Amino acid sequence: MTSTAAATAVDPIAERAAVAVAHPNIALVKYWGKRDEAMFLPVTGSLSMTLDIYPTTTTVRLIEGSADTVVLNGHTAIGQAHTRVVRFLDMIRARAGRAEHALVDSTNAGPTGAGLASSASGFAALATAAAAVYGLDADARTLSRLARRGSGSASRSIFGGFAVWHAGEGDGEAGDLSSYAEAIEGDALDPALVVAVVDHGAKAVSSREAMRRTCATSPLYRPWADSSAADLDEMRKAIARNDLPAVGEIAERNALGMHASMLAARPAIRYLSPQSIAVLDRVLALRAEGVAAYATIDAGPNVTVLCARADAQRVAAALVELGDFVAPTVAHLGPGAALVTGRER
Ligand code: PMV
Repeated sequence: MTSTAAATAVDPIAERAAVAVAHPNIALVKYWGKRDEAMFLPVTGSLSMTLDIYPTTTTVRLIEGSADTVVLNGHTAIGQAHTRVVRFLDMIRARAGRAEHALVDSTNAGPTGAGLASSASGFAALATAAAAVYGLDADARTLSRLARRGSGSASRSIFGGFAVWHAGEGDGEAGDLSSYAEAIEGDALDPALVVAVVDHGAKAVSSREAMRRTCATSPLYRPWADSSAADLDEMRKAIARNDLPAVGEIAERNALGMHASMLAARPAIRYLSPQSIAVLDRVLALRAEGVAAYATIDAGPNVTVLCARADAQRVAAALVELGDFVAPTVAHLGPGAALVTGRER
């Protein structure tokens, strides 16, 4: 990429490029299942914490060409990865009444497609940069709704700290307007999340396909969705009263229930590996030793462990002892998506 360091303007439209940074979020009450696939409307509300690690940096530059080019982690994207971004840009262009094509260049500091929310940070950064460069006047709620259309969980990465993504009501347009994330109070809890990467590889079944199959075939899906709605209410109260053990217990049962619903899908979806189970066992053992540590797992084998900031190093050390296969990274509450500048860095 050429540098425009000499430029002084920061107006994205004048500059024809915008750069945004967003961080992944880990759901403590999960989003699993859509009621409207086209609009990315969830069956249940969810609640997450945005992390301060693994940012995605995305540049959207308007170009003269007749097609969009998408570069992900230094490689030109083709197939589905390309189509997903182009569809997203089409949606932004339609809203903005603009037609120019773009070069999208996005880099993840963390593992991509491994169940560590790279699509959340990716589409939150893309929504923020694309809205700016195409001149959409979008507040945070609108950005959250736009990001949702790229990847549901991205709706939450627009916000820092804890965020709730409301399921909203109805389908289509009504659902679209009512299904957005917003930040909630909770910074006083100040937890740590120890991210135990046991596998950097991309998952075999996408979360989109896995959700679809779980909803359509798992007899455990409805019970999980019903209990998840109750988990969300309880989680909000637990965060409000700064109750880390309650937050951890709700998060762990919610995630294990989600994986149970997937295991009961036909055919079964199993993201958990022997290494994931080893981490889960160690977390249980830590609790028996008196450390308030609780596990959550997204659509992949990697486990994240919620604990108090003061316990994070002890938890990370316990996971390292399991063997070479675990590489723990300690994260805390991180910031929401932000436009870095209208011009390139
Ligand atoms: O937004 P998606 O399609 O990547 O789905 C995310 C699903 C989970 O990470 C498993 C749960 C969640 O709420 O983030």
